[in-house]
Amino acid sequence: IKKIGVLTSGGDAPGMNAAIRAVVRACAYYNVECIGIYRGYQGMIEGDFKEMGPRTVKNIINKGGTILKSARSKDFMTTEGRLQAYNHLKESGVDALVVIGGDGTFTGAEIFNNEFQFPIIGIPGTIDNDIYGTSHTLGYDTALNTVVEAIDKIRDTANSHNRLFFVEVMGRDAGHIALNAGIGGGAEEILIPEENLGLDRLVESLRKSKDSGKTSSIVVVAEGDKIGKNVFELKDYVEENMPDYDVRVSVLGHMQRGGAPSCFDRVLASRLGVKAVEVLLEGKTNYMVGLLADKVVLTPLEQAIKGQSRVDAELVKVSDIISI
Ligand code: F6P
Repeated sequence: IKKIGVLTSGGDAPGMNAAIRAVVRACAYYNVECIGIYRGYQGMIEGDFKEMGPRTVKNIINKGGTILKSARSKDFMTTEGRLQAYNHLKESGVDALVVIGGDGTFTGAEIFNNEFQFPIIGIPGTIDNDIYGTSHTLGYDTALNTVVEAIDKIRDTANSHNRLFFVEVMGRDAGHIALNAGIGGGAEEILIPEENLGLDRLVESLRKSKDSGKTSSIVVVAEGDKIGKNVFELKDYVEENMPDYDVRVSVLGHMQRGGAPSCFDRVLASRLGVKAVEVLLEGKTNYMVGLLADKVVLTPLEQAIKGQSRVDAELVKVSDIISI
């Protein structure tokens, strides 16, 4: 392998820049050329490439977002799009890829590899942490800290006004952010896509809390929660059933995807970036590099996409016990 292309795709996540930096510098260390591909697979289709060297990635380890930009490419879902992308890679002499992203990114990588036998290694980058084969995806730790900080602030005002707050956090299909930031932020209840608590139990639990002397409460809701009501409908339901409650909603939104990566995410990105290059140079393909029990490990891309990244039942129990 003489030239490795690197791209970021899907929802951005803090730590992606640190991973790009690690890939570029590992390439330089092992005397391989490196090409940055802009806007994920879309830039691959359009040939939006730039040569990268150790100095082109200076001062980015601490930056959120991705200097290579990101996109969710519809064109890459078509055979013509992928053929165009392949031709651009060939013209530029790129003979292997490191793709940084989530399950959509890995699905694209799998298809592309099957069609063109193109060597690819994936680095898990998404704040959702919904990838099998790694305890942490890039950006997850930073997002948790961002959410906890936001909940702490909301708690101050909730407490002053004796209010109940529904705080909506990201996680379309996964409750990792909600569950962990909910525990860390001392939430009363946590609603996640993996479990259906039920509206009646929610109201009952809030009533119990009130009776036990709680004057304010925070309920953390993952955007894809199973109850199937959005956070504003939840507010209406609780207000109807508990007219004595003063309820407010706070949707944290995309601020959860920004900001300087935590030290954990920077170190993780650096480890995974170096490993991705090393693995390609060893002739391996179609793997994701991830972290399990603090060791960098490989998981076949197919498994990373299809395997279930489950929320930990112990965490659910802990959250129930400590919110009594
Ligand atoms: O996958 C990461 C994520 O932030 C999800 O939590 C969220 O549902 C989605 O991306 C939002 O996507 P977009 O930025 O395209 O609206």
